[in-house]
Order: sequence, then C-alpha cells, then structure tokens
Amino acid sequence: MAAEMALVKPISKFNTTKTSTPKFGNPRKTCSLRPKFSSVTMSATSQPATAKKPGKKAAKTAIKETLLTPRFYTTDFDEMETLFNTEINKNLNQDEFVALLQEFKTDYNQTHFVRNKEFKEAADKMQGPLRQIFVEFLERSCTAEFSGFLLYKELGRRLKKTNPVVAEIFSLMSRDEARHAGFLNKGLSDFNFALDLGFLTKARKYTFFKPKFIFYATYLSEKIGYWRYITIYRHLKENPEYQCYPIFNYFENWCQDENRHGDFFSALLKAQPQFLNDWKAKLWSRFFCLSVYVTMYLNDCQRTAFYEGIGLNTKEFDMHVLIETNRTTARIFPAVLDVENPEFKRKLDRMVEINQKIIAVGESDDIALVKNLEEDSTYCSIGF
Ligand SMILES: [Fe+2]
Ligand SMILES: [Fe+2]
Repeated sequence: MAAEMALVKPISKFNTTKTSTPKFGNPRKTCSLRPKFSSVTMSATSQPATAKKPGKKAAKTAIKETLLTPRFYTTDFDEMETLFNTEINKNLNQDEFVALLQEFKTDYNQTHFVRNKEFKEAADKMQGPLRQIFVEFLERSCTAEFSGFLLYKELGRRLKKTNPVVAEIFSLMSRDEARHAGFLNKGLSDFNFALDLGFLTKARKYTFFKPKFIFYATYLSEKIGYWRYITIYRHLKENPEYQCYPIFNYFENWCQDENRHGDFFSALLKAQPQFLNDWKAKLWSRFFCLSVYVTMYLNDCQRTAFYEGIGLNTKEFDMHVLIETNRTTARIFPAVLDVENPEFKRKLDRMVEINQKIIAVGESDDIALVKNLEEDSTYCSIGF
C-alpha cells in the first residue's frame, strides 16, 4: 500500500467505526522489519530535527492521531475465508490468480531497494522547515506502507487453507510493503529518527472494515499510490534541480509494485461480482472514491511546503493524480466520480478552507467545550 488509506471520518463522539486489535501473535516474530531503535517516534515532526546530533535518535512516547492520520486496518477474516473458498465461490478465476502469483514470485524489485551514501549526505544538507516536513513525509509514508504490510500478512496467514494461491499472493504483497516501509524507515534514520514498528503493531488501534470495504479502499489506495509515485518520479526527472533526496529515484520501480497490488485487487473484485453489480455497489464505490480523494487532497494541502519544496504545485499535482486514478478505477468500479468537472475541484478547495478552520480551532487556546462546539459547526459546513 502506498497511499494513506485513511478516510475522512466523523469526529470521535459520532464515530461508529469499530476498532479492535487483531490476533497477530508476536509481531516481532513475523515482521521482517526490525526497528533499529527502541524509541517510539510517530510524531517526529514536533521535534526539531536539526537540533539532534548525528547518532542520537529522537524519542517520542505518543502518537499524534488526527482525523487524517494513516490508519491500521483489520477485517472479518472468517468472511474473507468464505469469499475465497473455491467450493463456495464459483466466480474465482484460479487461472488468473496463478498467473498473478507467478508475477509476484518473479520479484522484480528484489535488488531494487539498495541505499547508498547519497541518502545521508542529502539529509544532512537539508535544513530548516523543509527538513522537518521531509521527516513528516517519511513518517507518514512509512506508516501507510506498514499498514499494508500488516493487513496483507494477516490475510496471507488466514487464507492459507482456504485458497493457498490467493494467500501466497497476499504474503508476497506483504513482502513488498515490508520492503517499502523498511526503506522509508531507513530514510528516517538519515534524519536521526526511527519508527518502532513492532511497538506500533501492538499499541495502535486498528480500524475495522468489512471485506468489501477493504477491497474498495485498498484498490484505490494502491492505484493512487502508483499515480503519486510515478508523477513525482517523472516530474523530478524533468526537473532534476528539485531532486533533494535520492529516495525519489527509486519511485519508478517502486510504483510498479503498487500497480501490481492494485491489479490483484482488481482481480479480487472481479471474483466478487456482488460487490460490483448493484446500486449499493455503485453508491459505495462513489463513497470510497470521494473519501480517498478528499483525504489525499486535504492531507496534501496541509503539507503544501513539501510539494513546493520539490517543485510541484500541490493542487495541480493532486488533481492530476485524482484524474488519472479515477480513470484507472473506472475500469473496475461500477461508478466513479466526475472529478474532471470544475465544480468538483471548487468543492475540494472549499473543504481545504474548512479544514484549515478546524485546524485553527484545534490549535487555539479556547477551552475544550468551546473547541468542540466550534469544530462541530465547522464539520457541519462540509458537504458535497
Ligand atoms: Fe507499498
Ligand atoms: Fe502496495
């Protein structure tokens, strides 16, 4: 998973999303990611990276959870087993899954994620606000990739008996996501930070999604991730003067992993026609498009300094990614949004303004009750 699969959710007191902790056993036994440091540094950005001496790792003890923070997901694994049982579901095209499995076994990027000394040198050169926003970019990306690792790893484990081919693909996708998350975490170490992924696995709350929602959300997340990575890569290839950290050089092959993951979810959805062929499927498809697109737009507009730092216009970049993702998604979802209608962008920009007001209320000195009332009234003004 590449993009943040966070959804815009109601504020906590109206939040009906069920959260639970999945039974992963001891994640340290199964997780191929070994955090180098024992410190918990989810909100690394609140610490001035420039103040740290090389070799000293920043330590934080709390995760800064916001409306748009990347989440960890769990699902109904029993229902998943039923959906992928070839005895029950005759729509499963096992030949297609076997072909996909061969692709994943080929492991095109096995030797791709190799670092060099340019990483640390580039990080040391980066100072001031850009350095801080880079740390946040690495931290959020690492969390999002790791979220994919956890979900796919568990699906690989749980589906082993029911559908070994599908299970093995999930396991190989978790291999990819572990690689991506590990590479980003190594990037954080260039800035003297580290995410304790083992601790996060146990300590963070998991958001529950029914299988069909996992399919919609994860498909979108993978495809949006593909378009984000490839767009940044192409932009920096054309404008190398903005290439300030070597991680972007890896995005061309990296995004192909995300594309393959998305194609696998496309095959999964085709095997579940009940999630694609009625009016409810159309509504849910549009809802997930909206949720994922809005989340990305709000997140990126909150971090415009990062995109401007690498020479992109944030809103133009996002609209390009949205339009391309939407065109790709239209090939499998029964309905998508009219994102190329200027009215759509106008509404997105209105939401950015509202989101800025919500952030301002959150950062104000008002007492909690007044803050809640102000936030409630601002949320009420969000609407499509
Ligand atoms: Fe990924
Ligand atoms: Fe992925």
